[in-house]
Amino acid sequence: MPTDWDQRYLEADTPWDKGAAHPALVRWLAAHPGLMTGDVLVPGCGLGHDVQLIAVAEPTARVLGLDIAPVAITAATRRPNPANATFRHGDLFDPPADLPGRFSWVWEHTCFCAIDIDRRDDYVAAVAAALQPNGRLLGVFYLDPYRGDHRPGGGPPHGCTRDELATRFEAGGMFRLIDGRLPEVTYPEREGRELLVLMERTGRSSP
Ligand SMILES: C[S@@+](CC[C@H](N)C(=O)[O-])C[C@H]1O[C@@H](n2cnc3c(N)ncnc32)[C@H](O)[C@@H]1O
Repeated sequence: MPTDWDQRYLEADTPWDKGAAHPALVRWLAAHPGLMTGDVLVPGCGLGHDVQLIAVAEPTARVLGLDIAPVAITAATRRPNPANATFRHGDLFDPPADLPGRFSWVWEHTCFCAIDIDRRDDYVAAVAAALQPNGRLLGVFYLDPYRGDHRPGGGPPHGCTRDELATRFEAGGMFRLIDGRLPEVTYPEREGRELLVLMERTGRSSP
């Protein structure tokens, strides 16, 4: 059964929300000041911790959090946000008309693992469509949410492999993998279970 994300937020049944931005993003922004600039998209932003962090760390960036759950967007919007952080209710797979081609960066964090596995190619196409040519996708991707005790079809979260990421993102020619490694820091309980990936959007059109 598809996840009712709004209901999860209404019931505060949100174990993914750690109340703070992803530690790997904190570390990456500190190590690469002035790089994540321009328009930055955070799909599946939830309560917006990562959006806030990027907006504070990069004051010239315009950071947009997009989420399909109105309850999450309302809560994120009500928080004290920097002026360069905004939130929008919307579906990554059917985004507002002004979004495609606008972004120089996409930050991915537990959106890819939240969508149905059979929509992963749609995710690749949606992120490619959001980015400008040579735009970049930085993200943490869940490798093994269940420590080997995977429930096929039972997620989210749905894990993936390094090979799958390379195949899905690079096969269609829309992305070039620049780097993929275990993040040096993450939340407790996620050590060794994520991949920090940097990719560049090529000039190739989405199918
Ligand atoms: C596991 S939560 C992660 C939220 C946030 N990234 C975090 O780490 O706290 C997945 C999020 O993706 C959102 N989502 C799921 N499908 C989406 C879609 N098609 N478009 C936009 N957001 C979506 C959900 O509403 C939810 O907030």
